[in-house]
Amino acid sequence: MSNEKVLRAKDISIVFGGLTAVDHFNMEIGQNELVGLIGPNGAGKTTVFNILTGVYTPTSGEYEFDGKNVDKVHTYKLVQSGIARTFQNIRLFSKMSVLDNVIVANNFNMEYKPLTGAFRLPAFWKEEKREREEALKLLSIFDLDQYADVDAENLPYGQQRKLEIARAMSTKPKLLLLDEPAAGMNPKETEELMETIRLIRDKFNISILLIEHDMKLVLGICERIIVLDHGKIIAQGDPIETVNDPRVVTAYLGTAEDAEELEDKVEETEEVK
Ligand SMILES: Nc1ncnc2c1ncn2[C@@H]1O[C@H](COP(=O)(O)OP(=O)(O)OP(=O)(O)O)[C@@H](O)[C@H]1O
Ligand SMILES: [Mg+2]
Repeated sequence: MSNEKVLRAKDISIVFGGLTAVDHFNMEIGQNELVGLIGPNGAGKTTVFNILTGVYTPTSGEYEFDGKNVDKVHTYKLVQSGIARTFQNIRLFSKMSVLDNVIVANNFNMEYKPLTGAFRLPAFWKEEKREREEALKLLSIFDLDQYADVDAENLPYGQQRKLEIARAMSTKPKLLLLDEPAAGMNPKETEELMETIRLIRDKFNISILLIEHDMKLVLGICERIIVLDHGKIIAQGDPIETVNDPRVVTAYLGTAEDAEELEDKVEETEEVK
């Protein structure tokens, strides 16, 4: 792993009304790193993603992506410079085919000019063909190519979540932000997802920041984790050590279900190791 940082967030805070949702947040992500961002409900995890993707402007602090300061940059520009994300709730075009969902996600990369498109000039068809071939290639990596012509809404749930990741990958990111990709998945789907995340990190040589409540997934694939609570980082480092940190255990005790799940998964993971 190289020492170069893909992302540097420096002292970022955001206040909504009276609530400090993210409080002096600092984070660095190295090239090819797979980092987990965890914490109880309402901790500020999704808000961090919204700041990093230009949806929210932080109240204070700044961040750098790929060595450039990007805290005043629009979302679409950030996507062009190499940040992609998926959302906590599935956001697919449900009535569109699986293939078209990927093509549309990558549309800004189309190289033909608007007039070429309007008059359906040869350059337009050439570009369309290239886009289609690339999208199919990407779908095959996700084992979704057999569903290319199926409407997204007719895919099984786990495959829909995979399609979301494929859409994000179609923009060729250097940094992929995944917001609870395993939410609502059954254990088999989660297992598959774990493989998929590993595969794309290695195959595309990208960095991944993963928000996830499923501790088996987090502990199974993350090399490092950061724990947020009430907008503040309360612990970070080696996954197993960090989730055993008394501050983390206390934060999760606020949500009894999560605490129980955390305990079970830590035990399971330790047994496997
Ligand atoms: N646009 C907004 N306006 C006001 N408050 C907001 C806004 N966005 C987020 N918040 C608040 O900020 C806090 C952090 O929310 P966030 O969605 O980032 O939590 P989270 O860690 O992603 O939680 P979960 O695990 O439930 O998804 C919450 O109290 C939330 O209500
Ligand atoms: Mg969230």
